[in-house]
Amino acid sequence: MSWENQYMQMVKTKPGFILAEEDRSVSADCRAELRSRLSMHAKCFVELGSGSGLHLLRLAEQHPATLCVGLEIRFKRAFKTGEKAERDGLENLLVLRTDARQIPDLFSRGEVAGFFVNYPDPWDKRRWRKNRLMSPELLSHMRELLAPGGFLRFKTDHQEYFASTEQLLVAGGWRVCKRTTDLLSSEFVESNIPTEFEGLFRSQGKPLCMLEAHSATA
Ligand SMILES: C[S@@+](CC[C@H](N)C(=O)[O-])C[C@H]1O[C@@H](n2cnc3c(N)ncnc32)[C@H](O)[C@@H]1O
Repeated sequence: MSWENQYMQMVKTKPGFILAEEDRSVSADCRAELRSRLSMHAKCFVELGSGSGLHLLRLAEQHPATLCVGLEIRFKRAFKTGEKAERDGLENLLVLRTDARQIPDLFSRGEVAGFFVNYPDPWDKRRWRKNRLMSPELLSHMRELLAPGGFLRFKTDHQEYFASTEQLLVAGGWRVCKRTTDLLSSEFVESNIPTEFEGLFRSQGKPLCMLEAHSATA
């Protein structure tokens, strides 16, 4: 059995922490379980591409009354996150092994208090840009799903991805309330929750960009 297949099976062993789909669709069972978990919490935060979970775990620790949902496409990373959540007894953390672009099938209008997108793959060759997570379509879905006063927080080490996302946000009816192109020297560093990739970029001395945006009509 390849290691990828091994994790496809292992994600099923932690149903309290991981909901896993074998393909990229969202099954009725997965949706029902998510709805049930959402109904037990006052609020919900959603992290897209949550990786191995360092940020999601800290977020869940800091917000015990909020359900913190990670959407991660890679089985191994989803498993690692669920494993650590179980170890730490974090009952307000749930990771879905699925494509984050499924958010309109997972959440209801006005349900999400905050979206987090940390260091998404930059797809930096021009012909690859269509693969970027931060697309006009996904941003429009996020805006619909946000609760009044809700926010999107985005971090990247990629200056051009940062600038082009900011342009998409403004064109898409968002208001950028906080921004920095040097997170570690900024006033936002105190409240910053690091991620695995952030540690790597930091060790390479790269400046880190962060913004927080709200719907302009909220
Ligand atoms: C560069 S890594 C960053 C991981 C983590 N956010 C961090 O900062 O350490 C990008 C992550 O997004 C995940 N990913 C990429 N496309 C995705 C998608 N469409 N849906 C869910 N996860 C995705 C990758 O598997 C990977 O874990």
